[in-house]
Amino acid sequence: MAKKTSTSSRPHANPMWGGHYAAGPSAIMAEINASIDVDKRLYAQDIRASKAHAGMLAAQGILSAKDGKAIIKGLDAILREIESGAFVFSTALEDVHMNIEARLREMIGDAAGRLHTARSRNDQVATDFRLWLRDTMDELDAALQDLQAALLDKAETYAALPMPGFTHLQPAQPVTFGHHLLAYVEMTGRDRDRLRDARKRVNELPLGAAALAGTSFPIDRVRVAKELGFDRPMANSLDAVSARDFALEFLASATILGTHLSRLAEEIVIWASPSFGFVKLSEAFTSGSSIMPQKRNPDAAELVRAKTGRLLGAFTALTVIIKGLPLAYAKDLQEDKEQVFDAADTLRLSVAAMAGMVRDMQPQEEAMNEALQHGFITATDLADWLVRAADIPFRDAHHITGKIVRLAEQKNCRLDELTLADMKTVDARMTKAVFSVLGPASAVASRTSLGGTAPVKVKQAVKQARKRFLNA
Ligand code: ARG
Repeated sequence: MAKKTSTSSRPHANPMWGGHYAAGPSAIMAEINASIDVDKRLYAQDIRASKAHAGMLAAQGILSAKDGKAIIKGLDAILREIESGAFVFSTALEDVHMNIEARLREMIGDAAGRLHTARSRNDQVATDFRLWLRDTMDELDAALQDLQAALLDKAETYAALPMPGFTHLQPAQPVTFGHHLLAYVEMTGRDRDRLRDARKRVNELPLGAAALAGTSFPIDRVRVAKELGFDRPMANSLDAVSARDFALEFLASATILGTHLSRLAEEIVIWASPSFGFVKLSEAFTSGSSIMPQKRNPDAAELVRAKTGRLLGAFTALTVIIKGLPLAYAKDLQEDKEQVFDAADTLRLSVAAMAGMVRDMQPQEEAMNEALQHGFITATDLADWLVRAADIPFRDAHHITGKIVRLAEQKNCRLDELTLADMKTVDARMTKAVFSVLGPASAVASRTSLGGTAPVKVKQAVKQARKRFLNA
């Protein structure tokens, strides 16, 4: 049955805690105090934790078995009501905890009032929030794994496709497109590691700390921890209700992940620009212009790039909220969830958009090859060749190569378009064998060092990364 509660503030004292209040809050107080619009997302976790708490209270003889059963049955009914959309959340009841408890009282009567024995909203909200974040981190891990799978598939297909590698966004040395994508597989792997590590500290149970000091009732926190899948109950009741570093760690990891996504996003924007033309993006992840009919704008990539700002904003906001807060709980902490929810929503979208873009992205071999013709991109290979063929110290080889580059610049040609006679004017030790190292394909093929860009290495790296990250 649907609950009929108005969302406007009421002139009565709060039925949950207003025993010593003569009247209700001012409208402004009700508005600033209420968190229901944000924390109703915790309803499933709130009900799950309440059921575990009620079961424990009954097992410990703190509640009668009859009341325990009625509470658990009522909570199940409320869950169904919320999921069917029939439940009406009330601003006057402030938050998700009191909305659910008030409804429980409507359903099962006075026994509902016994559910809050040996707990407080302080340990309750911290528990719900940790349960929610744990699930969210697991979902995010799966989403990141999917992004890695998309990158790995592309990297495998284009393990041998040479493109210019850049430093300072200046052509530096040829790399393969696959190798470039694998760099992001590594970054994403570290992001997953960070989140997994932070999860350990999320996964501790605050419930049972009660308001701040613990409780005089003979509760069993280990049982509740086990039932809710937490590794252990938190050791200190004051810490349990006031700690939010678990949320900060999530936001810090989210921000770092955001910086990685923004770098890939920026590269996609650059690659897709006609001046580069290295990749073609799909219609699915771009948009046209309402005035310029030729446009295919990389909107998804731009938005992913921009959303890093929200993530850092959330991290900054929560850091400032927590800084200087005295123990234990203070209402400031109610502001934690909005930041974390927004960051999680932002990441869910950004990671999925990135995976979609990567899957659809078509590298453009011709444009990459054309770009490889400029910038004397195999100059290092020439210098390395001098070291190997003529046993010249690298510093000297670098110097000689610089002069050969200048010659090519003057003649307005590529290094491999110089004649051997041209090169010999710079250094008599040049031989025609040098021409075998001046093409981009041979340049990438030669870089067989561990972690290098040679196609054989890239193919191996794809295989290893599939094992490390996809368990495949
Ligand atoms: N809505 C509150 C929050 O999110 C729940 C805890 C309220 N505790 C209190 N002592 N008023 O933080």
